[in-house]
Amino acid sequence: MAFYFEDNFLYCDGIRVKEIQSRVGVSPFYLYSGEQIEGNYLAYTQALAEIPSQVSYAIKANNNLHILKLLHSLGCWATLVSGNELRLALAAGFEPDQLIFNGNGKTISEITLAIQRGVMINIDSFFDLDHIQTVAEHTNRRARVLLRIAPDLDVTVHPYLSTGLKETKFGLPISQIPRMTTLLARSNHLDLVGIHCHLGSTIDTVHVFQETMAIMARHFTEIRSQGFPLQYINLGGGLGINYRHDQSQHPSPGDLIAAVRAEIPTDSTLIIEPGRSLIGNAGILVCRVIGVKRNVNRSFIVVDGSMAELIRPSLYQAFHYIAFSEPVTGPVEVFDIVGPVCESADFLGKKRRLATPPEGTCITIFDAGAYGRAMSSNYNARMKPAEFLVADEVLHQIRREERFEDYLNLFEPNEDHI
Ligand code: LLP
Repeated sequence: MAFYFEDNFLYCDGIRVKEIQSRVGVSPFYLYSGEQIEGNYLAYTQALAEIPSQVSYAIKANNNLHILKLLHSLGCWATLVSGNELRLALAAGFEPDQLIFNGNGKTISEITLAIQRGVMINIDSFFDLDHIQTVAEHTNRRARVLLRIAPDLDVTVHPYLSTGLKETKFGLPISQIPRMTTLLARSNHLDLVGIHCHLGSTIDTVHVFQETMAIMARHFTEIRSQGFPLQYINLGGGLGINYRHDQSQHPSPGDLIAAVRAEIPTDSTLIIEPGRSLIGNAGILVCRVIGVKRNVNRSFIVVDGSMAELIRPSLYQAFHYIAFSEPVTGPVEVFDIVGPVCESADFLGKKRRLATPPEGTCITIFDAGAYGRAMSSNYNARMKPAEFLVADEVLHQIRREERFEDYLNLFEPNEDHI
């Protein structure tokens, strides 16, 4: 276990988190366990060992350059959703042919960058096809493309996290596939090399992945029979993690792969695009208690982290396990854990039974490695937090905190007219 408690102190890969907090001198901050990242990646590669396959990390979950380098060094590819994610991936050392550029609103300049570099592109719609085709023609290059399909399967997740229904803004409804393949057959610049889908996120059962694979396999075989040299069947990401730290049986990458295995078409390469299940439980948000306050019927632990650093609880009513990182012996009560942001939606956890902490106590929000720092904002003029990584029991700073000078520098020195 990369994060564990001993004598009520929290440790990250052998180092006390409280001690890290004292050493780094900033708060709040993100802390990652290299051991956990590697373990999560290994869980996928072991499950995929006998299957022609590739893990492609969804960079949006956490785009820290050093984490990208680490995953690249392990053999991972990367799935991108913007031109800047593409640039980041290249900066981290990924080769263009290890990248998949996905998205429902890729701009011409982003597509141009992808095609010039030889990155594989997901076609999301008819206008997207048009744009990709036009850029390929103008730059006189061939582009390898995947077709993103919306398999129209419901997953029981927060509505914001569902992406595979036919009402979704992502991908092509099944009924439109024939029209798309007719157009692709006429293209002399695009090579259709596979199909893609992504059902949604925080999925806690593997049954739906099996159903999806069965549907995707049918389309794969059908499209291939039309003469397209399909190789990749890309199942997207979406596997949930145990945010509640309870005894419930959460499917592992092994369970996911076991569920889809029998449906994989012959002579195909399976791509799987995890974000959360690679990095989610490998990161924590470490905060300090500012104070404790009791209003009528409600008690609050006010901490120095907020929705600006971790928006998941406010945006998706997401549950993150919260615990003190050091022994606390005050009377136990039910608290809401809230930040200083001027907004009632600013909470990190509600109705948690915790001991009453003294001011300054080190408190940790768990499973914040995915969609934590990546979705942070400057709301209330808060500066984005620093990030640290423990690798081989050594603490590394992998991104410094944003400073007020950085922020001020973005404003033009004079009120120039545009
Ligand atoms: N592939 C595609 C095409 C995706 O759109 C996504 C995530 C992934 C892979 C990775 O999914 P994962 O394995 O991380 O579930 N901000 C939300 C999550 C949004 C995910 C969007 N797409 C959250 O904090 O839960």
